[in-house]
Amino acid sequence: MKEIVIGFLGCGNVGGGVWNLLDGFKKEIAHRNHVAIRVKKVLVRDVSKARTCAVPAELLTTEVDEVVGDPEISIVVEFMGGEQPATEYMLRALKAGKTVVTANKVAVALNWHRLQAAAQEHNAGLYYEASVCGAIPIIAALQHSLQANRIGHMMGIINGTTNYILSRMYERGESYEAVLEDAKRLGLAEPNPASDVEGYDAAYKLSIMASLAFHARIPFKKVYVEGITKLTAMDIACGKEMGYVLKLLAVAKREEDTIQVRVHPTFLPETHPLSQVNGSFNAVYLHGHACQEMMLQGRGAGDMPTASAVVSDILRAATCETHEHPTFANTADADASLTFDDNWDCSYFLRLTAEDRPGVLEKIAGWLAKENVSIATMMQKGRMEHGRVPLIIVTHAAPEKAMQKAISAFDSQVCVVESMIRVEQ
Ligand SMILES: NC(=O)c1ccc[n+]([C@@H]2O[C@H](COP(=O)([O-])OP(=O)(O)OC[C@H]3O[C@@H](n4cnc5c(N)ncnc54)[C@H](OP(=O)(O)O)[C@@H]3O)[C@@H](O)[C@H]2O)c1
Repeated sequence: MKEIVIGFLGCGNVGGGVWNLLDGFKKEIAHRNHVAIRVKKVLVRDVSKARTCAVPAELLTTEVDEVVGDPEISIVVEFMGGEQPATEYMLRALKAGKTVVTANKVAVALNWHRLQAAAQEHNAGLYYEASVCGAIPIIAALQHSLQANRIGHMMGIINGTTNYILSRMYERGESYEAVLEDAKRLGLAEPNPASDVEGYDAAYKLSIMASLAFHARIPFKKVYVEGITKLTAMDIACGKEMGYVLKLLAVAKREEDTIQVRVHPTFLPETHPLSQVNGSFNAVYLHGHACQEMMLQGRGAGDMPTASAVVSDILRAATCETHEHPTFANTADADASLTFDDNWDCSYFLRLTAEDRPGVLEKIAGWLAKENVSIATMMQKGRMEHGRVPLIIVTHAAPEKAMQKAISAFDSQVCVVESMIRVEQ
């Protein structure tokens, strides 16, 4: 049987899961794939640290050359995380003709063009299924199973931490701060959760997914990003009363050569398939001209779900005859023929605190109408002190810039915009 010798860059949560999966699954791998996978060296920061897998101490090293410079190692598997030094280490491996498998969305989203060019120049493979949505095979679906489609739009819940927080706020009416603290305690949020809660983690993943869906490089810097840190239990409760569920949504749409890519809190009707995706689950809902609507759902993180994607990539790399590469010219910037649209159309949920006197509603409707924004639904939520009332408005679809202009003209003596949340159907 053919032996494939591999090296690890990192051995934390994901690396430990990959070790355990390769170890516990080796009989099936031998039987199904006719290969034996042997891990020869494992790069870590601290060799004395306790590990979640039984990697022998003699395999651990702090010298990257022992992995990327070893001629016997043909596949380097990276789960160190972060842009650097991970990108430089992967480039060194690719330039030495080794195939790279990575779970690192930051390195792929920011340096894909450099990694891809090195892979192609040196006849090596580059695999990154685990970098987007953990166990969900979205990369393989976009590259293979859905390749006979023009994908027009894609909406995803692609960050488990924020989905866990928003699901609990929706179900139990808890505050953002209280759920975040609990999520940290349960290990569902990082001690520094900024990348998740500010939307960047989802934006890195969206940049990769949208590039594959639209067969064009969609650079990370083109993604509009807004996180969940300003959301309140009150917003979620009011939306719920109107039949909406709040999600941090990654949205990508393409019409001809115009593309929208955005990550922001979004209300969805409670009947939408994505509204049923709760807790730390991820899901991607998309529409292709031939396949029509579909949704892929599963675990977007965790040691074994992520290892499922990494080990599949290792096996594909180890057994394929030629490595496949994306269909598009993978350059740092987007193709000049594409336009990135930051004036998308959607409906808006506005939570206002308004003066409680006759004529106020007409004034608000007038400021909106001036920018051609019309009201679809309005709800008054009881009374507050000092003669002010909470008012909820959901508009019909309107361009983003018209909406921003309309609310910038609101007179704060009459009403204050407490929140503005986009609504998708
Ligand atoms: N965790 C998940 O559920 C998940 C899901 C999908 C994708 N990912 C991605 O997978 C990657 C790894 O995540 P993780 O949760 O496994 O991270 P982690 O637990 O922090 O593990 C990182 C590993 O890399 C090693 N490392 C980090 N910087 C290093 C350096 N400069 N030199 C040598 N070794 C270094 C660490 O060594 P020490 O152990 O000695 O500190 C550790 O073993 C990230 O890109 C992440 O985005 C994670």
